[in-house]
Amino acid sequence: MNLGVCYYPEHWPHTRWATDAAHMRSLGISVVRIGEFAWSQLEPAPGDFRIQWLIDAVNTLHAEGLKVVVGTPTACPPKWLVDAHPDILPVGDDGQTRGFGSRRHYDFSSKLYLQACCDIVERVAGALGTHPAVIGWQTDNEYGCHDTIASYSANAVSAFRGWCEAQYDSIDALNTAWGNDFWSLNYASFQAIEAPRGAVTDTSPAHRLAWWRFSSDQVVAFNRQQVEILRKLSPGRDLMHNFMGNFTAFDHHAVARDLDVSGWDNYPLGFLDRDAATDADRLRWLRTGHPDDSAFHHDLYRGLGHAQAGRWWLLEQQPGPVNWAAHNAVPLPGMLRLWGLEAAAHGAELCCVFRYRQQPRAQEQFHAGVLLPDGSESPVADELRAINADLETLGELSQTERGSVALVFDYVGHAALDAAPQGGNASPLEAVKDWYRALRAAGQTIDILPPDACFSGYALVILCNSTILDEDIVERLDASGAMVIATARTGSFDRDCAIPETLAPGALQRVLPLKVIQVESLPDAVLEPVNCDGGLNAWRWRERVDSVLTPAACFTDGWGFHYHQGNWHYVNARLDAESTQRFVLARLREIGLHITDCPGGLRLRRRGELVFAVNYGPDSVELPHGGPFLVGQRRMEVADVSIWRCTG
Ligand code: GAL
Repeated sequence: MNLGVCYYPEHWPHTRWATDAAHMRSLGISVVRIGEFAWSQLEPAPGDFRIQWLIDAVNTLHAEGLKVVVGTPTACPPKWLVDAHPDILPVGDDGQTRGFGSRRHYDFSSKLYLQACCDIVERVAGALGTHPAVIGWQTDNEYGCHDTIASYSANAVSAFRGWCEAQYDSIDALNTAWGNDFWSLNYASFQAIEAPRGAVTDTSPAHRLAWWRFSSDQVVAFNRQQVEILRKLSPGRDLMHNFMGNFTAFDHHAVARDLDVSGWDNYPLGFLDRDAATDADRLRWLRTGHPDDSAFHHDLYRGLGHAQAGRWWLLEQQPGPVNWAAHNAVPLPGMLRLWGLEAAAHGAELCCVFRYRQQPRAQEQFHAGVLLPDGSESPVADELRAINADLETLGELSQTERGSVALVFDYVGHAALDAAPQGGNASPLEAVKDWYRALRAAGQTIDILPPDACFSGYALVILCNSTILDEDIVERLDASGAMVIATARTGSFDRDCAIPETLAPGALQRVLPLKVIQVESLPDAVLEPVNCDGGLNAWRWRERVDSVLTPAACFTDGWGFHYHQGNWHYVNARLDAESTQRFVLARLREIGLHITDCPGGLRLRRRGELVFAVNYGPDSVELPHGGPFLVGQRRMEVADVSIWRCTG
């Protein structure tokens, strides 16, 4: 794994660049990511391209032996472009145009904006595409950040109409598929179709899912356009995008298919503050981040690159407090090192800290960097040196191998759950994470796979959000011989978000003779106990199933729970976190997988022969096994990392 920093030479005098480059080198940095927000400096007026300063910056970094990833600057359309063509601006679901003054103020459906992006990307790639220091390109920056995937502009609605026309044979077919007889919503032509916004109450789930798919396809097309230019002008370089955490507003697998490496941006404390499931979690992991959250995303994004052999880079790593959450705590000393080495454990080829130097001005002025605004080192600079020293101790790292267990993550299926949640507390991403956490608490190496993956070789595969199931995945899973756990709501929609003709779980009925005849969503305070696997509680969601199969156990009101036949299991309820863990442990034991207990905040991850242990917990812990240690020791202090070679 290489170490990197995100650097903005346009913020600092040219005379400082060489000092910065030499300092980066002294920290063990070898990769620098630059350029992704610099459009107004690269083209200050229409057609007035000023690329030389960027070339000079890359030359300066190159002179120090540093490699460079250049970001295309398309997340920040400059003022002159917005003034000349205000219809490149996106429109929110409140019908308001979102204006200039921050970033991501563009509409994926604006043809004019797409053309402007092509022009600037061609210029930058033309200037730097074959530079010896340039090893890769990042397209745009964080598609969807600040809720910017869907735009409700006239351009978008018009493109949506065309999209619908391409998807359905006729307007009648669309009306039928969307259930438009209901509430008299029939359209007479494709040109009459609206965006699903501003209605008196809920628009149809089919309509919303179609809008989601359309918006996702617009991102794919936008990204692909840049990819085509970069492939032509910068051959042999890795292309990537920096995806976000806890984000499902478009099909990441579809975007990743056009890229070489998947990248993502890790802000463990920001995510915790913004997205934690409970306030208790928010306090418990205040200065470390949730112990499974970075790992979950590492594995999710590693899986995104499945087709490209799991290559992934951490393109932004939080070094200290961020600026954008409601509360922005300082991480515990040692956490940057822990996060960095954990990324290495999960196979990252790069860990790039955001940002090199804290900016004293503008929106992110309180966001920590490796340097303070005055140019002196911040407290985390030594942690970078420490990661570098640890990586040197470890030497060449082997490829991370596949795990024995896998989760399937299906973005479209996930979107269907969002479109038809049938309850206010569905939190489908948390549900996926509960399964992940349960496997990780048992010390498993977990792969998170796209629905079109090959499943052979896995001992256990869990379908977490495969609500739209086709025959093909069922066949591939069946042929794999893996134990398959299909969780509640698997196969519960057809492609238009309707209940399948044969009822849920749809295509799963080929291998499991059951049908869901009632579903209920429940308030958080209600637990429905079932007496199996050491005592489990259904929580938030439960289904009544009709089946010739005898359920493994029953709820007190007689509803069955957990049906299985052969390698296939169906869990017809959401379980609370502890119950998910108990259920998973029971299944892991059944298939005889080796289980390592990870108490408190201790977590383990194997990479080749190396085992990485990290301690997110508030107390020191004694490792149950391990050693002799390459890094650390058996007793692990808070925020500690221990690494040893395991030959067994
Ligand atoms: C990321 C973004 C960066 C920066 C960072 C601050 O989401 O890609 O440009 O804004 O957040 O934490």
